[in-house]
Amino acid sequence: MVKDFIPLKIAGVGYSVPETVITNEDLKKLYETSDEWIYTRTGIKERRVVSGNETAIDLGLDAAKKAIDKSKIDVNDIDCIISAASAPPQLYPTLSCTLQDKLGIKSKIPAFDLTAACTGLIYALQVARGFIGTGIYKNILIVAADNNSKITDWTDRGTSILFGDGAGAMVVTASDDGVDDVLSLNISADGSIGQMIQTNMPSQCCPLVKQADEVGTGKIIMDGKEVYKFAVTTVPKYVAECISKSGLTAEEIDYLIPHQANQRIIESIQNRLKYTDDKVISNIKYYGNTSAASIPIALVEGVEQGKIKLPSTAVLCGFGAGMTWGAAVLRLREGIC
Ligand code: UT7
Repeated sequence: MVKDFIPLKIAGVGYSVPETVITNEDLKKLYETSDEWIYTRTGIKERRVVSGNETAIDLGLDAAKKAIDKSKIDVNDIDCIISAASAPPQLYPTLSCTLQDKLGIKSKIPAFDLTAACTGLIYALQVARGFIGTGIYKNILIVAADNNSKITDWTDRGTSILFGDGAGAMVVTASDDGVDDVLSLNISADGSIGQMIQTNMPSQCCPLVKQADEVGTGKIIMDGKEVYKFAVTTVPKYVAECISKSGLTAEEIDYLIPHQANQRIIESIQNRLKYTDDKVISNIKYYGNTSAASIPIALVEGVEQGKIKLPSTAVLCGFGAGMTWGAAVLRLREGIC
């Protein structure tokens, strides 16, 4: 750790999901499947999707407003915005620049997007930690927002059962009491196995040259079996290592708030930590996989439903395309959501 590293405080967290619900029964209108098949393999019963003109920008804005409100920080005191989306509705202007405008922030603060798929929130937290720790920025808004339904191949029953839309936001600030809310945080990537989850954008070459043999579809292509194997072999061990660096034991941490990708993957982490069900926050049943938004949605909803008591500690973990993965042991203060 750098000398005089400024500790980070998590000041506010918020989330937003679209109203439209698509159940497993509804998916039977698209292809041959069953609620039983989907639920037993994934733990998912339903997911939310945007409709009409609604996009991840609307969800991100709503989540950001809620997180800012909870943080009690004036929106004009935010000095950096980092957005993490797997596939934002537009490449540019970026989600973060669009949110800067929609939040009415007039000062010319930096706003940029970071792409680490479902691990985006943990990656963004690490970047924010570096900025805050070294005194470069003081109040950072992180927004994880995705409209996966717009890039899902709705003819592929192996992937379209999994994803849902949603957004989560976090305001992090320089700690005013010397207490660091990040007890440990690690992020990793392995591009050599990146083909496990791909979204290749539709593209073209200059009309004056030879065209590429294949053009992307802009849809998610996933080797579900390989992703599953990767997740259950890599993530539980990684989470245990992150905990050991936090100075706490797994037993001493109050909650596990994992990325909501598959209930069986969540259980593999739970088993490694020997956690009872009441310590594990899972809402995949109602939202499916909402990419980087899944952790903040689970956190805030967990508090709202009384499953998470504040103040407390939690271990978060995520994994996704890239492949990327990350884990963090955090202090959750009273009033953050
Ligand atoms: O953030 C990271 C996101 N990704 C993940 O976490 C994905 C992790 N992987 C998974 O969750 C699982 O691999 C899935 C749930 C996606 C798929 O489960 P699986 O046990 O790996 O199934 P499979 O793809 O190997 O398919 C088994 C069978 C196939 O039939 P045959 O070839 O054995 O006759 C599929 O055609 O199940 C069939 N199948 C379905 N049947 C009914 C695939 N999808 C469906 C479906 N309904 N929705």
